[in-house]
Amino acid sequence: MATALIILAAGQGTRMNSDLPKVLHPLAGVPLIQHAIDSGAAVSPERTIVVTGHGADQVEAAVAQIDDTITCVRQEEQLGTGHAVLQARAALDGFTGDAIVLYGDTPFIGQDTIEALTAARAQHDVVVLGFEAADPARYGRLVVEGDQLTQIVEYKDATEDQRAITLCNSGVMAADAGVLFDLLDGLGNDNASGEYYLTDAVAIARARGLSAGTVTCPEAETLGINSRAELARAEAVFQAAKRAEAMDNGVTMYAPDTVFFAHDTYVGRDSVIEQNVIFGPGVTVESGVKIRAFSHLEGCHVSRGATVGPFARLRPGAELAEEVHIGNFVEIKNAVIDEGAKVNHLSYIGDAHVGQATNIGAGTITCNYDGVFKHHTEIGARAFIGSNTMLVAPVRVGDEAMTGSGSVITTDVPDGAIGIARARQANKDGLARRLFASLRAAKAAKAAKNKETN
Ligand code: UD1
Ligand code: CA
Repeated sequence: MATALIILAAGQGTRMNSDLPKVLHPLAGVPLIQHAIDSGAAVSPERTIVVTGHGADQVEAAVAQIDDTITCVRQEEQLGTGHAVLQARAALDGFTGDAIVLYGDTPFIGQDTIEALTAARAQHDVVVLGFEAADPARYGRLVVEGDQLTQIVEYKDATEDQRAITLCNSGVMAADAGVLFDLLDGLGNDNASGEYYLTDAVAIARARGLSAGTVTCPEAETLGINSRAELARAEAVFQAAKRAEAMDNGVTMYAPDTVFFAHDTYVGRDSVIEQNVIFGPGVTVESGVKIRAFSHLEGCHVSRGATVGPFARLRPGAELAEEVHIGNFVEIKNAVIDEGAKVNHLSYIGDAHVGQATNIGAGTITCNYDGVFKHHTEIGARAFIGSNTMLVAPVRVGDEAMTGSGSVITTDVPDGAIGIARARQANKDGLARRLFASLRAAKAAKAAKNKETN
């Protein structure tokens, strides 16, 4: 059955104390809202609607970056969660199927949980995701009789008896989209907050003779972010889980607490990640790779048997083939490094292709940027780039070619040739000794003069 996601992201997030809208604060390397989008991917949604309000321009731009098929709709005034969901109605005109409501600030809802929610729609017209709260605090309470959810009461509106209930509302709900909007048409705002509550859809459904039920998930999945402290806690929870998963998958880490992953980091079996390594989004590391200490990787692919670091930086578009060696203080950006090539020391390789088994000497730089445009550097197979070579792109160094140390290469070096581009050396016989002697004499004369004047 077709499914649509409605992701609520109009709230202000006052407690973040930030100019950045709450749902754009990064968790595991990507904006919070991307986590909600990823949770919903479990049901391969036919449509996704994000309801924006506070910071709408920024949120809409970020959502378009994540997935340009997502529709954003605006909730001009934040009149409550039920009102927010209703804003999606026009965008879902003509859609038939289920709608699942998620919050943009709740990043950990599992894909299995969403699947369970969808499956429970076979029994109930409306399904609400609940959790047993260790401290139910101010969550909405789920009032259940037998297999029926009779209503959701907000903490502010609840009686003492209802407040004693520990089964709480996560905010996630599933129902047929048409049915849900019809139910929400029946909402009022005569409650303690004066808001149109999405949660009231349950009592309205029951009054109309529809069935409502619950599915539960671990409380950890329902963690919502309201403050920087909660964001930091969520990051710690994510990192702990991701480290444990990596180790279960056969990855060695000597100090896992110092390794930071992104939401989508993949590391293969028998890879070793040393201390203080940071992964940004979009990294795939194959099996048997060694990532040495203090390296930073993002948007890159490291193939089997490669070694990276210590102190290396792999930026987006770095593509390392098998057995490549990237050493200390080396930066690679948008460059393909073929099998067995080595870039071991103090180099920048950007917008380039380095051929198989080529050796890049210390201090090599691809001068890829002219201040306006970026240019490509092509280095052939089994080539040898001398230390401190500047490769002024666009330029090509051929297969089995070399460059002389210290060269500034501005024109192509043919296959098998050596390009040398530096001033020729001249030795002046005896000049160093004469220079030393005259400098030392000057120093002695200066010392003698100081002694006289003191
Ligand atoms: C809501 C639920 C409560 C549940 C809790 C779980 C209601 C009435 N209450 O309460 O039962 O236990 O979540 O965290 O639904 N939003 C909008 N527009 C609005 C209002 C809210 O987009 O007009 C968005 C917010 O940005 C947020 C989400 O909806 O992402 C939840 O809103 P929030 O105000 O945090 O709801 P709670 O009071 O926490
Ligand atoms: Ca909340």
